[in-house]
Amino acid sequence: MIVTNPVYEPDQYWEARGGDSYRVYTESPGYRHYREAQFDFFQKLIEELKPARLLDFGCGSGKLFPSWTAVPEVHAYDRARSQIEIARAEAARLRPGNPYRIMHCLTPERTVTPYDDEFFDLIVVAEVLLHVVPGDIDLLVDELHRICRGHLAIVVPAPFDNPAPHCFDHDYASLCQNRFTITDDHCLHNQRYLAARKITADQNQAKQPMPQAKEAHHAVVSP
Ligand SMILES: C[S@@+](CC[C@H](N)C(=O)[O-])C[C@H]1O[C@@H](n2cnc3c(N)ncnc32)[C@H](O)[C@@H]1O
Repeated sequence: MIVTNPVYEPDQYWEARGGDSYRVYTESPGYRHYREAQFDFFQKLIEELKPARLLDFGCGSGKLFPSWTAVPEVHAYDRARSQIEIARAEAARLRPGNPYRIMHCLTPERTVTPYDDEFFDLIVVAEVLLHVVPGDIDLLVDELHRICRGHLAIVVPAPFDNPAPHCFDHDYASLCQNRFTITDDHCLHNQRYLAARKITADQNQAKQPMPQAKEAHHAVVSP
């Protein structure tokens, strides 16, 4: 596996940023407009798509959990145990009778998840993909495509202007190509909001150009 920046080891980094530090940041006054804009975006998306089963991928401390209260089955996944512990407490506080299926899982590969094919109606990846190293990003989007049966929603900074070693500027339109059709792409408060619908293998095949008709080979019949 290629890690392009030796200063940044994703699992160690996010484990160390856990505890309350990330939550304190997202609850600070300076972050308020991001929080509100994300909440509005997801409220509208949930109303429109009405997903029965949602995955909050890279859920961190569970900042987005208030957006999922109308979704019947919510899964949340993160590789950092220190984040997941806070997310579990947040889920219990929000919906005590209907616990989220929160999973901390450290698969040997960062680009592999423990879910079945086409398991989720909606996968939300908010402020996560920018932290995925370039050597992992293509494989991870492939994995999200595998476990998705409906839609994907991505939130990333825009414009990208963070030179920190844990931030990367990926080409999200290219990453979606042949995997997801982008249905919404807009920026608000320096964040980019993308919604996309899964392209199935059948649809991809249908898009392939028709094979060229082979030249007819006439049998040469000897007189
Ligand atoms: C900036 S936080 C965002 C948390 C949350 N989505 C939010 O909007 O508040 C990034 C999170 O992504 C998680 N993460 C990064 N790469 C991941 C991967 N390959 N698989 C699962 N989680 C990942 C980190 O552990 C961290 O909790």
